[in-house]
Amino acid sequence: MKKEALEVLKNRRAIRKYKAEQITEEELQAVLEAGTYAPTGTGSQGVQIVVVQKPEDIAAVNKLNAAVLGNTGAKPYYGAPTVLLVFETDKCVTHELDGAAVCTNLLNAAYAAGLGSCWIHRCKQMFELPEGKELLSKWGLSENLVGVASVALGYADGPHPEAKPRKADYIVRV
Ligand SMILES: Cc1cc2nc3c(=O)[nH]c(=O)nc-3n(C[C@H](O)[C@H](O)[C@H](O)COP(=O)(O)O)c2cc1C
Repeated sequence: MKKEALEVLKNRRAIRKYKAEQITEEELQAVLEAGTYAPTGTGSQGVQIVVVQKPEDIAAVNKLNAAVLGNTGAKPYYGAPTVLLVFETDKCVTHELDGAAVCTNLLNAAYAAGLGSCWIHRCKQMFELPEGKELLSKWGLSENLVGVASVALGYADGPHPEAKPRKADYIVRV
């Protein structure tokens, strides 16, 4: 049994407070590479991960996500210095699931690399908005990219959260 990997899968938690300090390039690359090795339907790799680190872009994605949330005062990425946006690029039948698989790899890899992370919702709606399409265009990306999920990434600022107890009927053996 590869205990270390199992410990990572079990102990990763959603982090909702981050230090302002940026993560290292080595840490970022380790997380991204793990993302690219996620399973995808028929091995299509029809997913693109966009790395956002420039302060003005971080502010823009926070603003966009907060707008979808309907609370312009919110900080949906919790001050994380890096945001990863996961898009589907192909119209293959498993597109959304592929993006979710990539996102899960990113989160687990982040924890394994000593980083904090949190899956952040509303990526699809963000990039359906004209402001979202403007951002894609500014980054030189296709405005047809479809958002699947996003990840707040950085050094956790605070104690590691405890997992809730698992529900009794999570697993059914037949
Ligand atoms: C599809 C999905 C969407 C999520 N969206 C958000 C979100 O927008 N904001 C947030 O703080 N956490 C979000 N989360 C994180 C969950 O709230 C978190 O995983 C859950 O509370 C369990 O905590 P854990 O990850 O520490 O085990 C999301 C998780 C998933 C899987």
